[in-house]
Amino acid sequence: MSASRPAARRELHLNAFLKPPGEFLAAWRHPDSVADAGVNIRHVVELARTAERARFDAIFFADLVGVPFADQEVLRRVSVVNDSFEPTTLLAALATATSHIGLIATASTTYTEPYHLARTFASLDHLSGGRIGWNLVTSLNDAEARNFGLDRHVDHEVRYERAAEFFDVVTGLWDSFDDDAFLHDQHGGLYFDETKLHWLDHQGRHFRVRGPLNIARPPQGRPVIVQAGSSDTGVSLAASVADVVFTHHPDLAGAQAFYADLKARAAAAGRDPDQVIVLPGLSVLVGATKAEAEDRLDRLSALLDPRVALADLAYWLGGVDLASHPLDGPLPELPLSNQSQSAQAHLLHRARDEGLTIRQLAAQLARDTRTITGTAQSIADHIEEWFTGRAADGFNVIFPYLPDPLDDFATQVIPELRRRGLFRTDYPGRTLRDTLGLPRPPSRWSSPHPATEGTSR
Ligand SMILES: Cc1cc2nc3c(=O)[nH]c(=O)nc-3n(C[C@H](O)[C@H](O)[C@H](O)COP(=O)(O)O)c2cc1C
Repeated sequence: MSASRPAARRELHLNAFLKPPGEFLAAWRHPDSVADAGVNIRHVVELARTAERARFDAIFFADLVGVPFADQEVLRRVSVVNDSFEPTTLLAALATATSHIGLIATASTTYTEPYHLARTFASLDHLSGGRIGWNLVTSLNDAEARNFGLDRHVDHEVRYERAAEFFDVVTGLWDSFDDDAFLHDQHGGLYFDETKLHWLDHQGRHFRVRGPLNIARPPQGRPVIVQAGSSDTGVSLAASVADVVFTHHPDLAGAQAFYADLKARAAAAGRDPDQVIVLPGLSVLVGATKAEAEDRLDRLSALLDPRVALADLAYWLGGVDLASHPLDGPLPELPLSNQSQSAQAHLLHRARDEGLTIRQLAAQLARDTRTITGTAQSIADHIEEWFTGRAADGFNVIFPYLPDPLDDFATQVIPELRRRGLFRTDYPGRTLRDTLGLPRPPSRWSSPHPATEGTSR
């Protein structure tokens, strides 16, 4: 942390996690939801505009590059993994339908090439006037690997090693042209100043990329980098590269420990910890009373087919076969997941601590016990407690179904947060970095780096 800079007032940040039908696997079946939400652009534009009117910092779209369930009896009962817009193309549409809100898309470092990704996100940042974020993921499962010539998902450590090099290449490509490289001199016939072009000439373990990228430096210098690693390697990557960190913690103490650890690791990596924004997930259902909100959650949970609930549990445990084990018995010993190790550990702990059978654990997951139900006041209390207690710099707000729970949050919880002086009333600028209070990163070629090697030739 810079000693000379006066301590800035901490700002609460709110990101809306928009799975268009809602987070819950059976959300598409809810009578007040939109059944084809994943491919209904009018619906998604409405969600984005609602979030913008409420002054959310950003909206975020998750992604998988495959379909995680193989059993057709399960697959045919779920919507979001089967039938959703690809997030970067979706952001292009949303960029023209909104004016200030940040737009964050997920893209994989395991199953794409850095040149493609750098180009797509640079284009999006230009299209949106600097409102783009990239959720950098290493992908999650074998089903995705099978779409890219592999039988198994790339090993956890290897994919993080590739991710770190991928990040280096992408950010290098974004710096191909200096900010003032383009002359557009129609009279003299010079389009850009060749001394302000930098060839990357990257040669590493995973990539060989000459560059330059065929587009000007993004308006934000670098789109906002989001990361959600939870393993030791994942958290290290987040601490060294992420502007925003998504995480999941059921209890305050666990969230505070994660927050302190991440900020310490960011400082150890030579970064200002205030410039790494930690957003735990917060799944919410607002009601006039707690009982009413609970009732809404119960009615939603009842829509989930038990076969889907069990398949979802097997998926989050690391793609294991639960069918060969008695459903009314305990979880079997499981190998360490090559998918999300933190999700597996969380479920194993929950089953062990509460003595749950497989069937009970699946039912709990289906009921989504992480969802906070309550009145606008009680949800604002929760947000305030976590924010002031340094468990969070804000929240990744998750909606069990859509659009009503987003409308309720926007019209009831956000005004309550404003009454408490916790949330701003307008956007402070035009870019996502402005909204998040993050500086625009200088090019890697700007002084004090001597622009000798890798520069124009
Ligand atoms: C809020 C949130 C959103 C995530 N979105 C995605 C996603 O869209 N696609 C994906 O492949 N992984 C996603 N992940 C998974 C993370 O990228 C990461 O793999 C996971 O948290 C496990 O961490 P680890 O890989 O360090 O074990 C998400 C995680 C969180 C907490």
